[in-house]
Amino acid sequence: MAIHRESIHGQWSNRWAFILAATGSAVGLGNIWKFPYITGENGGGAFVIVYLLCIATIGIPIMIAEVMIGRHGRKSPINTMRDTAVSEGRSPHWQLLGWSGVLAGFFILSYYSVIAGWALSYIYPAGAGSFNSVTADGVASIFNNLVSSPESLIVWHSLFMIMTMAVVARGVKEGLEKAVRYLMPALFALLLLLVGYAMNSGAFAEGAKFLFEPDFSKLTANSVLVAMGHAFFTLSLGMGAIMIYGSYLPQDASIAKTSITVAIADTVVALLAGLAIFPIVFANQLETAAGPGLIFQTLPIAFGQMPGGSFFGMLFFIMLALAAWTSAISLIEPAVAWLIENKGISRARACMWFGLATWLLGLGTVFSFNIWSEVTLFGKTFFESLDYLASNIMLPLGGLAIAIFSVWIMHTQTVRNELAMKNEFSFKVWHFLTRYVTPVAVIIVFLNVVGIIKLS
Ligand code: PFF
Repeated sequence: MAIHRESIHGQWSNRWAFILAATGSAVGLGNIWKFPYITGENGGGAFVIVYLLCIATIGIPIMIAEVMIGRHGRKSPINTMRDTAVSEGRSPHWQLLGWSGVLAGFFILSYYSVIAGWALSYIYPAGAGSFNSVTADGVASIFNNLVSSPESLIVWHSLFMIMTMAVVARGVKEGLEKAVRYLMPALFALLLLLVGYAMNSGAFAEGAKFLFEPDFSKLTANSVLVAMGHAFFTLSLGMGAIMIYGSYLPQDASIAKTSITVAIADTVVALLAGLAIFPIVFANQLETAAGPGLIFQTLPIAFGQMPGGSFFGMLFFIMLALAAWTSAISLIEPAVAWLIENKGISRARACMWFGLATWLLGLGTVFSFNIWSEVTLFGKTFFESLDYLASNIMLPLGGLAIAIFSVWIMHTQTVRNELAMKNEFSFKVWHFLTRYVTPVAVIIVFLNVVGIIKLS
């Protein structure tokens, strides 16, 4: 008999509300800003194939596991992990997974907010027509002016943090459900418009070829790690964000179906972003490996040339900031839920303290684009180190632990009941992938990077 359990933080109205919220978390800067630039830096097609393989064989099984654990525990990830481990007769130390998630969320949000600030700062110039007929050099200088000014970056970073805290302080469900319902379809439509523009811009074939024609000689051990790390980052996995959203999921919703829907939506958005951007890169003889500024130096050219470009450009940067916002909310929700559960403090206060700490750490990213641009650790700036540590190391390790926990630590019967898959074969496939394929794949990628085994 199904027991009716609910999180003290509330519950989504239905399965679709979860799909929208989880898609809101998954679709963000990772799809539109990060995916194109890391694809550019890692040589294109072969990287995209590895990324897609990681989504299918690692991302989706772990997403199902993470949502399942969340719905089973119905608390913040730290408490969910502890309680579930204890009720399954295991060590309470599994709560460390929740802690590492809170830390990863803190790291990621600190720089995520700075980049989202870039999107905010582009809204006005786009609408005011500053991109009209702009040249590639023109946009490059607009971008460089922005990132070389710590003051401007701090203003936009602060604004974004305030926006994020304002929603989380009210509770994730209020507002978020409604916002995402309109936001996601609108963002999708705008991306289609951009792809339409890219098709007519002259270099569509070249852009598509770069994205889809694999050249495996360009693939290094590190790019395989980056592709895997990005699969976690883009699906918001390995740190408890999806776990806590799962804890608000109604008991009767199918976890597997909802997870697959979210993963597909996320992947389609990333590929559309790639298809919109690379043709513009080639048509304007820009660098594919331009790095984090890539979309900010390519899309304005398209908006500057298309009819109605000021309007669509403004709308695009608004959507990008909003998409980042719905992801940012999920980055702090695990920490805030824990503060409420364990420290008994109000949501508003929890947000304020966590927000302040994140804002401070974000200053490191702000400076890494200007006054600290020469300060590096293993050749990486502060921002690059933080992103590498969180996305490529902490999220995959967190995901690995989630996979192990769900199939080696939890009892199969508990998992079977929670997933309630109608089709036994689907359950077996998920169980096999999560028990063997996913952990082995993650471990191989790590060993490959540290040079213990050689794949590429
Ligand atoms: N998935 C988000 C994106 O692609 O932009 C980023 C993210 C959100 C990562 C939440 C991790 C997370 F927990």
